[in-house]
Amino acid sequence: MENILVIGAAGQIGSELVIALRKKYGNNNVFATDIKEAPADVMQSGPFQILDVMDNNRLIHFVIRHKITQIYHLAAVLSGNAEKIPVQAWNINMQSLMNVLDLAKEVPEVKRIFWPSSIAVFGPSTPRYSTPQFTITEPNTVYGISKLAGERWIEYYHKRYGIDIRSIRYPGLISYKTEAGGGTTDYAVEIFYEAIRKGKYECFLTEETSLPMMFMDDAIQATIDLMEADSTKLSVRSSYNLAGMSFNPRELTAEIQKHMPDFNVTYKSDFRQAIADSWPASIDDSVAKEDWGLTYKYDIKALTEVMLKGIREKLG
Ligand code: SER
Repeated sequence: MENILVIGAAGQIGSELVIALRKKYGNNNVFATDIKEAPADVMQSGPFQILDVMDNNRLIHFVIRHKITQIYHLAAVLSGNAEKIPVQAWNINMQSLMNVLDLAKEVPEVKRIFWPSSIAVFGPSTPRYSTPQFTITEPNTVYGISKLAGERWIEYYHKRYGIDIRSIRYPGLISYKTEAGGGTTDYAVEIFYEAIRKGKYECFLTEETSLPMMFMDDAIQATIDLMEADSTKLSVRSSYNLAGMSFNPRELTAEIQKHMPDFNVTYKSDFRQAIADSWPASIDDSVAKEDWGLTYKYDIKALTEVMLKGIREKLG
C-alpha cells in the first residue's frame, strides 16, 4: 500500500494532482500539505495539514508518523516572482529540495519522489526550436538556475544513493481550478479569466512570443504515468522534456475569438518578456515518448473550449 505526501497541495499543480492521486490510491492515503490552506475539495476529501517543507524536523516526523512511501515535492517560487527576490527564491527552491532528498536518504521507506523541473532550465544559448532533451542549458533567471541545479542534484542522488526520484520539465501549465502564481507563462491562464470577466486583456508578452504550453489534465496524466513507469525504462534521471503544444498570444487570442468574437487583446510587455525570450519556443519530447509512452489529449482548440467552460462555471 502506498502512502503519498504532496508538498505544495494548494498550488496550481498540487490542487489537481491531490484529487487525481486520491482517486487512484484512496482518499486517506494521499496526505496534502502546504504553508497555506488549499481549495475546499483538497482539504475535505482526505488528510490535509499545514506543513512547511523548510522545517526539516517537522517534515521528517510527518513522513515517519504517516509511513510515507512516495513524495511529490511541488513547492517553489516561480520565474517571475523569483526575479523580485532572487536570493530568497534560490534558498527556498534549493533548500526545500535538499530537505526532501536528505529525508529520502534517512528514511528508506520513502521509495519514490517526484520533483518538477521546467523549460526554464534552458536559456538564450539553447536551440530555440524543437529543443532537444540533451542540449545547452545556460539559464539566466534565478528560477531556471535553481531548476537546473536541482536536476543535477536529483541525478546525483539517484546515482550515488540509489534514490528513485523522477522529474518532468513542465512547459507552461494551463488550468482553471487554481490560478498560477508568479510565472512567465501565466498570461495563458489570465487571458481566459479576463476574457470572461472583462472581455479584454492586456498581455505582458508580445503577440509573437511562442512558448510551449500544456493543459493541466495532460500534465497530471504525464506525471502519474512517469511515476508508475518501470524504473529500468527510465534513461533520464535528471528531468524529461515535455512538449505539450506551442502557440503565441496572437494565436491563442484568435482561438478564444472563435467563441467570443468581441474579445480584445492589447500588448504591453513587462520584465517577463526577457524571461520568455530566453526560453524555447518548442520542445522535442521524443525521449519521454520512447521511455515511458508520453501522450497528450489536448490541442489548442480543446484547451480553449475546456478553459472557457470551466471558468464560466467557476465564476457562475
Ligand atoms: N510556468 C513556469 C513559470 O512561468 C515555468 O516553469 O515560471
